[in-house]
Amino acid sequence: MEVISVILFSFALASVGESANILYVVPFTSKSHYIMLKPIGVELAKRGHNVTVIVGHRDPKPPPNYHQIIVDHKEIWEILGGKRPNVFTMVDISAEKFHETILWGGGLGMTETALNTSDVQKFLAEDNHFDLVISEQFFQEALYVLAHKYDSPLVLITTFGNCVRHNIITRNPLQLATVVSEFLNLKEPTSFWSRMRNLYFTVYEYVWWKYWYLEKQEQLVKKYIHNLPQPVPSLYELQGNASLILLNGHFSFDTPTAYLPNVVEVGGVHLSKSDGKLPPDLQKLLDDAVHGVVYVNFGSNVRSSELPTEKKNAFLNVFRRLRQTVIWKWEDDTLQNIPKNLVLRDWLPQKEILSHPNVKVFISHGGLIGTQEAIFYGVPIIGVPIYSDQYNNLLQVEQHGFGRILEYKNIDEMSLQILLDDILNNESYSIKAKEVSKRFKDRPLSAMDTAIFWIEYVIRNKGANFMKNPARDLSWMAYSMLDVYLLILFVVLLSIYAVFKVIKLLTKATLPDSKVHKKKRS
Ligand SMILES: *[C@@H]1O[C@H](CO)[C@@H](O)[C@H](O)[C@H]1NC(C)=O
Ligand SMILES: *[C@@H]1O[C@H](CO)[C@@H](O)[C@H](O)[C@H]1NC(C)=O
Ligand SMILES: *[C@@H]1O[C@H](CO)[C@@H](O)[C@H](O)[C@H]1NC(C)=O
Ligand SMILES: *[C@@H]1O[C@H](CO)[C@@H](O)[C@H](O)[C@H]1NC(C)=O
Repeated sequence: MEVISVILFSFALASVGESANILYVVPFTSKSHYIMLKPIGVELAKRGHNVTVIVGHRDPKPPPNYHQIIVDHKEIWEILGGKRPNVFTMVDISAEKFHETILWGGGLGMTETALNTSDVQKFLAEDNHFDLVISEQFFQEALYVLAHKYDSPLVLITTFGNCVRHNIITRNPLQLATVVSEFLNLKEPTSFWSRMRNLYFTVYEYVWWKYWYLEKQEQLVKKYIHNLPQPVPSLYELQGNASLILLNGHFSFDTPTAYLPNVVEVGGVHLSKSDGKLPPDLQKLLDDAVHGVVYVNFGSNVRSSELPTEKKNAFLNVFRRLRQTVIWKWEDDTLQNIPKNLVLRDWLPQKEILSHPNVKVFISHGGLIGTQEAIFYGVPIIGVPIYSDQYNNLLQVEQHGFGRILEYKNIDEMSLQILLDDILNNESYSIKAKEVSKRFKDRPLSAMDTAIFWIEYVIRNKGANFMKNPARDLSWMAYSMLDVYLLILFVVLLSIYAVFKVIKLLTKATLPDSKVHKKKRS
C-alpha cells in the first residue's frame, strides 16, 4: 500500500513538473470549517505538492506527502472559561456581543492554544522552507506571520464568504449598500436604517478589530513565535499584502459583488468531488421512503436535544402526522414517544443524504456549509437561524425562492405545520432549488479547480504582486478622492461667491441713481 502511494506520488510529481512546499494553516477546530478546508489541502497534496498542515483534526488516511501537525483540541467554551451553553440561547445575541465574546475572545484563546501546542512549537523551531503559506482567515491572525517567517507569499481562505474587513484592508471597493457585514443580521439590507446600521457596524468592527483585538494577536506573536527575520511587518500589513483571498461564496447564490482580481469565489469547493457513499441501512431507508424524506439537522455546534420541551413536542407532533419519513440528527437517547416515521441518529452523512432524490426538505440552522450542500443537490430549506451568518444565508435562500425562514421564537405546532405543508406541497420551492443548483454548478472551472488554479498561479508568479490593488499605497484621502472633491467643491463655492459679488457690484452701480431719484421725489 505504502509503496503504491509513493509510486503514485512520484507520478503526480512528474505530471505537475513543479511541486511546491506548501504550509497550510487551518488550526481552528470547528468541524464545519474543516469540512470545507480539508479537501483543498488534500487536493494540493494529490496534485504533487508537499503539503504540511497545522490542523485541528487528524486525517486518518492522508496522502504520503501530506504532513499533519495536530493542534491541541479545546472546546471554545473551555477557552472562554465557562460551561458549554445551550446554543439555542444565542438566538438573541447582538452582532457586537457575538464579536466581543465569541469571535474575538474565542479567537484569541484558540490562537494561543494552537501556538502553545508542543508539536507546533517543535515545528516552528525546525529549519523549514516553504514556497507558500495558506491560512484560514478566521480570528487567528498571529499565524499570518508565518508567511514572513518563511519569506513566502500568503494566501487566505474564508469559510464564510466575503469579508468586509479584508475589503477595507486590501482596498477592494466597499459596497455597503448591498453587501452586509458577514455576521450582521438585517431583515431588509437595502433599507435606509439597515444601510445606516451596516455602516455603523462596519466602522465599529474595524476599529475594535484593528486597535484592540489585533494588538492582542501581535502579543501572541511575540510570546510564541521567536527568531523572526527583522523587521517584522505588522499583522495588519501582512493581511493587506496577502496575494490571494479565496472566498467561500458564489454570485449564483450570494450577493453579486465587485472584486479585485486576487479575490476569488470558490463556494462549494468541498462539493466538487463527492465520493462518499451512504451506509447501507440509510441507503435502504431513503430508497424505501416512497413519500419522501424530511431531513432535520441543526449542524455540528447546535444540539437538537437541547430544544425546550414545547418546541421539541411541536416538532414531534407535526412529524407524527406526516406521510414522509423524518431523519433527525439527535444527540442523546432521552426522547420519549417517538413517532414511527422518525429515525434518530447522533451523526449523519449530510452530503450523501442531501444527494438522495427522495429528500424533499432540509430543516436546518442555515450554516453556510450545509446551505451550500442543499443548493448543490437542489433541496428546499426550512431554516431556523441561531447565530453568526445563518440569518443572512437563509435570507438569500428565501429571496431565491427555495426556502423559508422559521424564527426560533416562532417555532410552534401551527407555524411548523403550515411551513411544512407549503414546502412539501407547493412545487415552486423544489423547482427553484433545482434552478439555483444548476447555476451554482455552471462555471468555467469547478470550485476546486478554481481554487487550485489560483493557488498555483500565486506560486508560479512568486506572489503575483501585480494583482494587488495599487490603491493600498495611497493615503485614505487620495484613495477616497476626497482631496480632489474638496478642491472641486472649493472652486464651485468660489465661483458662486464670485457670481454673487459681480451681481452685487452691478446692482450697486445702478443703485445710487435710483436712490437719488427717490430722494428727489420725496
Ligand atoms: C516536505 O515537507 C516536510 C515538512 O513538513 C519536510 O520535512 C520535507 O523535507 C519536505 N519534502 C520535500 C521533498 O521537500
Ligand atoms: C501552554 O502549555 C503548557 C504545557 O505544555 C501549559 O502548562 C500552559 O498552561 C499552557 N499555556 C497556555 C496559556 O495555555
Ligand atoms: C407556491 O409558492 C409560490 C411562491 O411562494 C406562490 O407564488 C404560489 O402562489 C404558490 N402556489 C400555491 C398553489 O400555493
Ligand atoms: C508583500 O508580499 C510580497 C510577496 O507576495 C513580498 O515580496 C513583499 O516583500 C511583501 N511586502 C511587504 C511590505 O511585506
